[in-house]
Amino acid sequence: PFDVGAIGTVLATTWFGFSIYREANPKSQKPQTDLTAAGIEKKHLVILGSGWGAASMLKDLDTSLYKVTIISPRSYFLFTPLLPSAPTGTIEPRSIVEPIRSIAKRTPAEVTYYEADATDLDYSNNSLKIKFPDSSAVEKEVKYDYLVVAVGAQPSTFNIPGVADYACFLKELPDAIQVRRKILESVEKASLFPEGSAERKRLLHFVVVGGGPTGVEFAGELKDYVDEDLSKWMPEIAKEVKVTLIEALPNVLNSFSKSLWTYAQKTFAENDIQLLVNTAVNNVTDTVITASTKQKDGSTEKKELPYGMLVWAGGIRPTDFTTGLFKKIEGQAGARRGLLVDENLKVKGTENVYAVGDCAFTGHPPTGQVAHQEGHYLASTFAKRAAIDDLEAELVRSSNSDEKSKVQTRLDAALADIKPFKYNHLGSLSYVGAEKAVADLVWGTFSSTSTGGAFTYLIWRSSYIAMCISARMRALVAADWLKVSLFGRDLTKE
Ligand code: FAD
Ligand code: NAI
Repeated sequence: PFDVGAIGTVLATTWFGFSIYREANPKSQKPQTDLTAAGIEKKHLVILGSGWGAASMLKDLDTSLYKVTIISPRSYFLFTPLLPSAPTGTIEPRSIVEPIRSIAKRTPAEVTYYEADATDLDYSNNSLKIKFPDSSAVEKEVKYDYLVVAVGAQPSTFNIPGVADYACFLKELPDAIQVRRKILESVEKASLFPEGSAERKRLLHFVVVGGGPTGVEFAGELKDYVDEDLSKWMPEIAKEVKVTLIEALPNVLNSFSKSLWTYAQKTFAENDIQLLVNTAVNNVTDTVITASTKQKDGSTEKKELPYGMLVWAGGIRPTDFTTGLFKKIEGQAGARRGLLVDENLKVKGTENVYAVGDCAFTGHPPTGQVAHQEGHYLASTFAKRAAIDDLEAELVRSSNSDEKSKVQTRLDAALADIKPFKYNHLGSLSYVGAEKAVADLVWGTFSSTSTGGAFTYLIWRSSYIAMCISARMRALVAADWLKVSLFGRDLTKE
């Protein structure tokens, strides 16, 4: 008598609809108050950033325990795993952002948000300088009791001449929009030149530098766009488009297992993506990339590659704010790739500054997965920290030694309850184009690799849907995928 499938679908749809309703209509929050439930002055917790580390922390934080302020020049969280899909219109840029105020609004108590860059830290006075992110000089000083630095990283150009001037990056949302514009400009401009001409060939040569996951995913997405959409509307142009991926090391996807990067390289060959490995780019002009390829006999061959659009995905480095902290904080001497932190993610050389994500050096790779778990860990640590602060205040107020010793016992137990951060690697995924993906999967002690085909592609898509930060984002991403499968990619030039 019961159709289990139909009941399941109705329940899932109702739950999803309810989640969206709840997000759009958050419960009213408690106001920010000065005192904790124990009658002690609340500490001011300042979080820098609105990326994976900061947003994951905020989402799980009991904001009624502190006065919480978020400071970031970017007023939204960006779901980076789908950023490589944005320039080609597989995903609409706005589908992968979530306003930081919307995340803050769903926490127990009011949170203050300032759209600003942290520009300077006066550690000895627990004070930060922040600046509105434009050319005006609007500045403010912010005092904190606890500071969480989650400012991420920036693209690394290795100071290679011309990269900063002529390449596009794929790190932030405006980058994706710029790449989108550049693809369309190159395509439209190329059609003004005769078929087979050198200038038309140059404009239609799209180059990606860096065979890490960013470069591989984007090269795959770009070729999909050319083969599935451009070929429909501008077949003569699509025929002449060449996509090249340049990687300095002998293989792409070096952080994945051998079978996976072998599969990725095979897929590229089948998909007609030119792969130049052992090739390091050392100069870029507005029209030509110069690179040197290491030959088997140890010699190098110089290559000049005329190009129309270049995406630089050569890796990341610390932001200027982070490198500034290396110099300012004693205990950071020797820091290069990120702030040195202890097992509780506290910045070495400080008592009240923590760091998470790409700006912290923990020995784990700079991924969203790591930043997310670190943010989640700090949210639970700060809940325990608030209880510790209350007990410390109670200890000071205790009048007799018996009472003091009881409070001290509770305080010792609370301190012992703060356990070191432990990273739980759940695996890695990368799209490689032509509806194929590679996956290094980990379930507890079991690990497995999976390549290609509908199954891995399904795992890739469902994992990314599951990882989306909100039901709204899930719905928009799913709608974009459906829209593309029905109508193709929308690449109107804005
Ligand atoms: P971010 O998420 O970069 O956030 C940094 C935040 O700090 C931003 O809001 C920024 O505006 C803000 N900020 C910067 N400077 C200041 C300042 N001075 N003051 C205040 N705020 C500041 N990882 C995965 O695990 N899986 C993936 O599939 C994946 N795909 C990716 C795809 C792409 C294209 C890219 C670029 C990265 C991808 N990553 C992926 C890596 C992942 O995005 C990063 O590791 C992750 O974003 C790091 O989180 P974070 O919070 O440290 O930094
Ligand atoms: P990356 O550091 O992983 O890769 C950069 C690549 O560029 C390297 O292989 C490097 O050898 C190459 N390179 C650097 N300079 C070069 C030059 N001059 N010429 C030619 N090649 C050059 O950087 P990526 O891909 O941006 O990733 C950054 C972080 O984000 C990584 O930790 C990565 O795991 C994570 N990420 C994860 C994704 C996923 O899990 N699907 C997707 C994207 C990023």
